[in-house]
Amino acid sequence: MATSISTRCSSARVCPESSMPDRRQARIALIATGGTIAGAQTGELSGGYRAGALSVDTLLEAVPSLAGLARVEPEQLVNVGSQNMSYAVWHALARRVDELMRADDITGIVITHGTDTLEETAYFLSLVLPHTKPVVLVGAMRPATAMSADGPRNIHSAVAVAVSPQSANRGPLVVMNDEVHYARHVQKMACGGVDAFDSPNAGRAGVVRGSRVSFYGRADIASAAADNVFPLSQLPATVWPRVEIAYACADMDGLLIDFMATHAQGIVLAGVGDGNATDAAVDAMMNASRSGVAVVRSTRTGSGSVGRNIEVDDDHGGFIAAYELNPQKARVLLTLALMAKRDRAEIQALFERY
Ligand code: SIN
Repeated sequence: MATSISTRCSSARVCPESSMPDRRQARIALIATGGTIAGAQTGELSGGYRAGALSVDTLLEAVPSLAGLARVEPEQLVNVGSQNMSYAVWHALARRVDELMRADDITGIVITHGTDTLEETAYFLSLVLPHTKPVVLVGAMRPATAMSADGPRNIHSAVAVAVSPQSANRGPLVVMNDEVHYARHVQKMACGGVDAFDSPNAGRAGVVRGSRVSFYGRADIASAAADNVFPLSQLPATVWPRVEIAYACADMDGLLIDFMATHAQGIVLAGVGDGNATDAAVDAMMNASRSGVAVVRSTRTGSGSVGRNIEVDDDHGGFIAAYELNPQKARVLLTLALMAKRDRAEIQALFERY
């Protein structure tokens, strides 16, 4: 029997028990893409492992508790370490999620993913899909064969979030370590530890305790508003604009930026502090901008907001300020904006809003 999405308790902090869905009726599509969550190592304490080694069926065998939450229907899209995530996989993933969102009998979608680029995939999906049914991305910091692997619990939590009516209309969510995060805000903050994910500017969206999900705010808050900005039907399957990231540091010259400008349509500066760089690098950015390359200033610091004309004269340079987007997410938004042929003022407006 189909389970429809309800937003009856979308503004409540905790969904009252009476409005919880009949979990056994819920149908969750689980799309596996690889990562450490599907990783295998030689010994349960060994540091080395191979990401994307186990099939989705093997992953789910480790989470028998799912039977009490929903009917989970697994499919394997790819099985890669997310350092190898590509535009081709993003396109195929977005199309499949879109199809599943339109299926009346699917309650929500869970995507297992490597943690390294998980935030980029989540943010990309948030820009190209309508924000209707729950879409939940989940990974693990420890391989599936490790002692105290975090994957099974994270998968249980992700399915609990996907089943919850409170999760609808929030855009893609990321679930790690009993926490729920919005795609726009979440970041991998550390290269190790099960608590590696956080939303440094906005804070987490909610928490999962066992099978119970609590959100801290309503679904219609600004962080969830990037609904279908770049419709999937208009995205080409191949040949996306080239956008490079230039990492600022002491004594940086303009050489790398000059080189990028000859190959790329867009450059994102991972700037020091407020999205700044040496005079030589800023000069190179200005030349790039005058030659038609879209230049975005973001910060390498990991949090904060890079505003317009603060420290650097964006009006004079023709630059775009990234606001809260980190360099890797700024690259995603700039790529999509260039593909949609937006001009600089429109691109700036996108960064202020999404
Ligand atoms: C990956 O991103 O695929 C490897 C690292 C991880 O999943 O934690």
